[in-house]
Amino acid sequence: MDKIVILDFGSQYTQLIARRIRELQVYCEIWPYHMRGCPSLSDAEIRGIILSGSPYSVTDENAPRLPQGVLESGKPVLGICYGMQLLVSTLGGKVIRSQSREYGRALLFVLERGGLFEGLGSEMVCWMSHGDSVKEIPEDFVCVARTEGCEYAAVRDKSGRIWGIQFHPEVSHTPLGKEILANFVFGICGCRPEWTPESIVKQQIQYVRNEVQKERVVCALSGGVDSVTAAVLTYRAIGDQLSCIFVNNGLLRKGEAEQVLSNMRALLGKDRVIYVDARERFLLALRGVVDPEEKRKIIGRVFVEIFEEEARKLGDVTYLLQGTTYPDVIESVSVWGPSARIKTHHNVGGLPEHMHLKVLEPLRFLFKDEVRRLAAELGIPEDIIWRQPFPGPGLAVRIIGEVTEERLAILRDMDAIIDQELRKSPIYRKLWQSFGVLVPVRSVGVMGDERTYKYVGVIRAVMSEDGMTADWARISYDTLDVIARRIVNEVAGIGRVVYDITSKPPATIEWE
Ligand code: XMP
Repeated sequence: MDKIVILDFGSQYTQLIARRIRELQVYCEIWPYHMRGCPSLSDAEIRGIILSGSPYSVTDENAPRLPQGVLESGKPVLGICYGMQLLVSTLGGKVIRSQSREYGRALLFVLERGGLFEGLGSEMVCWMSHGDSVKEIPEDFVCVARTEGCEYAAVRDKSGRIWGIQFHPEVSHTPLGKEILANFVFGICGCRPEWTPESIVKQQIQYVRNEVQKERVVCALSGGVDSVTAAVLTYRAIGDQLSCIFVNNGLLRKGEAEQVLSNMRALLGKDRVIYVDARERFLLALRGVVDPEEKRKIIGRVFVEIFEEEARKLGDVTYLLQGTTYPDVIESVSVWGPSARIKTHHNVGGLPEHMHLKVLEPLRFLFKDEVRRLAAELGIPEDIIWRQPFPGPGLAVRIIGEVTEERLAILRDMDAIIDQELRKSPIYRKLWQSFGVLVPVRSVGVMGDERTYKYVGVIRAVMSEDGMTADWARISYDTLDVIARRIVNEVAGIGRVVYDITSKPPATIEWE
């Protein structure tokens, strides 16, 4: 399959470049510029190379250099921002440090149509974000666009193989950016748009078959879109060699265990899914525990114990299937090294090392939106595809203090009302997560002629791109009103409802 390689010099926009290229149905990979352990750039599948931006200045002594093999490969190259400055300075031009940064919208004047600007007008808006500027271009280069503040906003070599642009085509503030990238990947590199859900399914099925051969694979199902998609795809590839284990830890939402189980049995067949009812075991292990991190540790440990017991019953298993996606992979091989951004609590930590299983990750090159499209292609129902993220420790981190059966029941009822009402609102699709939190602190109220003394329930709803930062959702007063009334009327343990209007940071999304 045709492929574009994006060499990452550490720009915050590198992932965005990859997403734009993938949206054009062209496969691309991000490689750290130092390319440790990466295969060669002269590989026939690679049709072009993009050099990303960077927080460095090419005038810094320790700035990343252009890796060997980029120019030698003879493939088309597009340098973006730092990538352009790197090309220019490597090929004999001059880059200088500007006194001031050029940041924001600028009007681009295209001096020469064709190539990157094929089919586009002579003026367009673009987004600039740079400190350094190209002062002189290499001898066999020509200038193809400029802005008011930037003499060389786009350049190319005379053969039309090497291109550089100072602005960022990957951000939405460059409205024609996608067309410019399309001109590069299709017009200049000659890629074919082959990266479609059908072809991804075909390719990944083949990958799983080649990798697994006759061995057996086990997987932990959570019911989330990643683990379900990985399981369905793998089932298509190897059928009965796959076994899925679904552990009901008693910390799931109302009706969730039943729903996950029936969905999975419909998708994979009844005997592919092993259901383990471990509700009592988790509750017992959590008795008296109030510290959030302690809860997480206990839940993780008990899960691993149960998973191991069940996997052992299966006999000879070689692989552990995981729903790892591309952002985690990029993080772990990033220019900066595995960064603090990866949250260990998001992975099924420790399983493969402990059990000596090989890891099978058929989604490791996919972004979340691609996983969703793949899921649709595989016939996975909409409500799994669009399910909000749900933490591994489940409701245990949404009950402040000790987790008891009584508190779980109260939270489940309240959470179900929040969910039912928000689903009726147009805001629902825009929410990253929405749920209830139980604060088992009693507050005074009055119902009829009676004084009440009940728990406080919290509504939490946030908007976010990736869970790293989040803004509290502007749910309408009317919707909040309906939710609050229903909760105090229908959920016996709750006497007061509050709405959490704290963003992240400084708060976290979960209360614990
Ligand atoms: P916070 O609360 O840190 O949450 O703002 C960010 C995202 O991570 C989820 N989260 C977890 N997921 N195990 C998980 O699998 C956990 O222990 C955990 N804690 C938080 C949270 O739901 C949100 O999407």
